[in-house]
Amino acid sequence: MSLNSLLQGRRVMITGGARGLGYAFAEAAARAGARVVIADILEDRVQASANELAALGLDVSGLSLDLADPASIERCVSATVDLLGGLDGLVNNASITNSGGKSCEELEIAMFDRVLQVNVRGTWLMTRACLPALRQSGQGAVVNLASDTPLWGAPNLLAYTASKGAVIAMTRSLARELGGDGITVNAIAPGLVEVEATQYVPAARHQLYLDQRALKRSQVPDDVCGAVLFALSDLSRFITGQTLPVNGGFVMP
Ligand SMILES: NC(=O)c1ccc[n+]([C@@H]2O[C@H](COP(=O)([O-])OP(=O)(O)OC[C@H]3O[C@@H](n4cnc5c(N)ncnc54)[C@H](O)[C@@H]3O)[C@@H](O)[C@H]2O)c1
Repeated sequence: MSLNSLLQGRRVMITGGARGLGYAFAEAAARAGARVVIADILEDRVQASANELAALGLDVSGLSLDLADPASIERCVSATVDLLGGLDGLVNNASITNSGGKSCEELEIAMFDRVLQVNVRGTWLMTRACLPALRQSGQGAVVNLASDTPLWGAPNLLAYTASKGAVIAMTRSLARELGGDGITVNAIAPGLVEVEATQYVPAARHQLYLDQRALKRSQVPDDVCGAVLFALSDLSRFITGQTLPVNGGFVMP
């Protein structure tokens, strides 16, 4: 099987695809033959990003989505299924960090709630809304973006770390619930990746990752794409409920 046709004809939705890792996944999936919808709360930017990828000859469309709003999730999934004529893959990539840098005493309750609402409830509701189409596909794959932060217990990032721990736990529960429908559910846990969103991360945290990684260089979005394509493809049809750390050997659970 050629990697260029790894996802030939697959219909894939990627949340949070306006920028960062989601954008890289959209480009990689489309280059592997998928028809892709990216959905994001950054309405203008998601459209511009989809146009940019479409201008490269890739089959990518953009839709607006607010994961905190259940009605927006339903609308977005329904528009995606109409646009693609079904759905074979869902990448739950969108999330917020917001609690970064605050200790467990400084973190506001409203911020904790917001992070859990988007990262955990949003992942659940998005997956639930996609289920009828994924069942019909017969080769449904859900890929959840976790993080390695719950694997090593990142300090001063409590809400985000808790939310990603919950994503790993949900991945396991969903895998068991959906296995009977032939749907796989796996999580990818990146380390600290150099993107727009991580520019605010203190230099000391970047240095910690650099010092402790087995592979001695910074992590870039391309480093994570292979794992996501693998989890969406037939290569991983008998793998479910698993969390794959992609972090250059920073943590080895
Ligand atoms: N970059 C890293 O170092 C890193 C490390 C581990 C895990 N991750 C995970 O990878 C994924 C992508 O991260 P990224 O670094 O590209 O971050 P990012 O902030 O660039 O991307 C997240 C996207 O989600 C969108 N989004 C936020 N709230 C939303 C909402 N309510 N509804 C819809 N879309 C919303 C944002 O607009 C953004 O485009 C996230 O799940 C993140 O937790 C990233």
